[in-house]
Amino acid sequence: MTLLEVDGLSVDFHTEDGLVRAVREVSLSLGAGEVLGVVGESGCGKSVTAQAVMGLLPRNATVRGSILLDGTELVGGGADDLRKLRGSRLAMIFQDPMTSLNPVYPVGWQLAEAYRAHNKARRREANRKAVEALERVGIPEPGRRARQYPHEFSGGMRQRAMIAMAIINGPELIIADEPTTALDVTVQAQILETLTEAATEAGAAVMMITHDLGVVAGMANRVLVMYGGTVVESAGVDELFAHPRMPYTVGLLGSVPNPEQVGQRLTPIAGAPPSPLHLPPGCSFGPRCPLVQDRCREDEPELAAAAKGHLTRCVRWSELSGDELAGRIFDRQLTEEAS
Ligand SMILES: Nc1ncnc2c1ncn2[C@@H]1O[C@H](COP(=O)(O)OP(=O)(O)OP(=O)(O)O)[C@@H](O)[C@H]1O
Ligand SMILES: [Mg+2]
Repeated sequence: MTLLEVDGLSVDFHTEDGLVRAVREVSLSLGAGEVLGVVGESGCGKSVTAQAVMGLLPRNATVRGSILLDGTELVGGGADDLRKLRGSRLAMIFQDPMTSLNPVYPVGWQLAEAYRAHNKARRREANRKAVEALERVGIPEPGRRARQYPHEFSGGMRQRAMIAMAIINGPELIIADEPTTALDVTVQAQILETLTEAATEAGAAVMMITHDLGVVAGMANRVLVMYGGTVVESAGVDELFAHPRMPYTVGLLGSVPNPEQVGQRLTPIAGAPPSPLHLPPGCSFGPRCPLVQDRCREDEPELAAAAKGHLTRCVRWSELSGDELAGRIFDRQLTEEAS
């Protein structure tokens, strides 16, 4: 069953510098209980996509397209409707836990209040729910911890408390926007595992936003790769890792450490993503692409099906089939040979 269906979503910001085309024609769908990884470098539109779904865009934004949650249209809906959805059916986990935890109240009190905001419950029952939620995200001595303030929690514990906040009302969809970048790698892995476990247990779908393709490998069912404000590739996670069909994804994969190849060289993609104020003509990845051709600079390629459930926005996707080529295009700089 499809829980979230985003169709042709575009978000523009009207700024003093001009029109920022932050998200362009993004479509995606997410089934109940599914985990979708959304990956791409800084500025490619991941957070703005999430904000559009959550109804958290600032006033200078213009939104087009459709966002259906369980068949209910969220675009153009009233602020009140969305406020009701947030915290009950939709929950968001941010990079900085202090954006959802208030420093002046005990953690358990805040969880209980979040519960009471959407449920008719007496204080005592809400407190019990709060302690339960802390226990579910692996916080030891949850009863004692519930009485503590956020500053008495470590960074990782605060992240856990934020996950507890997200799951306390049994949401259908949790959007986690880079929840772990401030933490060390081991803690990151534990937190994301906690999140997916808690979500799965609660039957919630997760949209996991990250820079790091490696992070989604063990956790997501499907992956959406974004670049220049739009989707450039999407596929099931195994398919994407085994047969990437977009040079940008190949580039991202080249910067994921492979534990089986100790000492391998990681190849970052040279150059920087385009500004959404000045998108290049044609394919937005063209200026950095080792396989770029003249036709890529003229028209932006359409999303094409490379296989069932596998979309790519590259006219040369079929040439990326060989693993050997895929692994080496960025090393060899085929630019000259190709054009
Ligand atoms: N309120 C706003 N007004 C104007 N431009 C904005 C606004 N919010 C975001 N943008 C721009 O939209 C583009 C996409 O931003 P977004 O935050 O979605 O990127 P991101 O993929 O989440 O990047 P990061 O990985 O750094 O979080 C960026 O160029 C950003 O500067
Ligand atoms: Mg972001």
